[in-house]
Amino acid sequence: MIVLAVESSCDETSVSINKDGKVILSNIVLSQIDTHASFGGVVPEIASREHVKGISVVFEQALNQAGITAQDVDLVAVTKGPGLIGSLLVGINAAKAFAFAHNIPIVGVHHIAGHIYANQIESEMKFPLIALVVSGGHTELILMKEHYDFEKLGETQDDAVGEAYDKVARVLGLGYPGGPIIDKLAAEGEATYPMPHIKTEQLYDFSYSGLKSHVINMINRLRMKKEPINEKNLATSFQHAAVRHLIEKSRQAVDDYQAKMLIVAGGVAANKHLRSEVETHFKDVEVSVPPFKYCTDNAAMMGIAGYYYYQRFKKIDAMDMNGYSRLNLSE
Ligand code: KG4
Ligand code: ZN
Repeated sequence: MIVLAVESSCDETSVSINKDGKVILSNIVLSQIDTHASFGGVVPEIASREHVKGISVVFEQALNQAGITAQDVDLVAVTKGPGLIGSLLVGINAAKAFAFAHNIPIVGVHHIAGHIYANQIESEMKFPLIALVVSGGHTELILMKEHYDFEKLGETQDDAVGEAYDKVARVLGLGYPGGPIIDKLAAEGEATYPMPHIKTEQLYDFSYSGLKSHVINMINRLRMKKEPINEKNLATSFQHAAVRHLIEKSRQAVDDYQAKMLIVAGGVAANKHLRSEVETHFKDVEVSVPPFKYCTDNAAMMGIAGYYYYQRFKKIDAMDMNGYSRLNLSE
């Protein structure tokens, strides 16, 4: 089965083609990061326009690189949400037009299911598993007992972990997106600044607003007192506290549900400290972290998720399928 997938939920325009949910034949990703960087974050209106500009070329490149034509495609998968609605609609309409023109069934796929299925590209899921979802908009623990079966155990009560990284970087004037910049700085520093130990009411929930405010207040205090800030050490201190919270909660869930595997999903899965900490703290179970290129938004992961969705439910969507800025993983 040949699946063509489209992703446009935020600031990457991407089309990918896979065979049988396993072999990635092509994965073209057109990033808008440079366009948005000067604004310090993604500007939704600009993102939609950039998707419109890029989508046709990305479709063409994905087909060419895979060495196939539209007639070879058996299923179209497209991100239906959550995300920026204007951006989502560009991908959805392009996917629908392609599917309609070539008479191919189409399925809408949840963006987070895509991030989770990035782990099925180079490793094999083993159930039950715990998925730690860490991105710019999500911080969640998901239990999977079989393919395409998601039970949310807990989530952030306030900010997402990626959001906290981006805000701390912004206050330090380091640029956007802040996650990779802080990650890089942190590798060269030491954890010398005191950080709070994050606690939450519910066992599997997360909270990042306290840590974020702690760091921002500290920066403001030091600036007011005209004291120097060691950015590297501050980055390391913040990163250690942020990652420790993820590790503690994941450990609890893996133990409680006797998971065979821990998978990490989402943009923050690219974080070097998180990658090394999961290796250190989960030697008793299998661990999967996607290759770097499949951590941030891309259509390859959406295509793999689309394949498993279709295998499990054998359901397709109608041509009036819509996009959703908010969407539950089970929808
Ligand atoms: O999954 P993603 O590409 O988009 C969303 O669906 O949100 O994740 C983007 C987030 C941003 O907050 C970015 O700063 C963060 O992932 N990120 C990182 C790293 N690379 C990307 N955070 C920490 N360390 C990284 N190396
Ligand atoms: Zn994402």
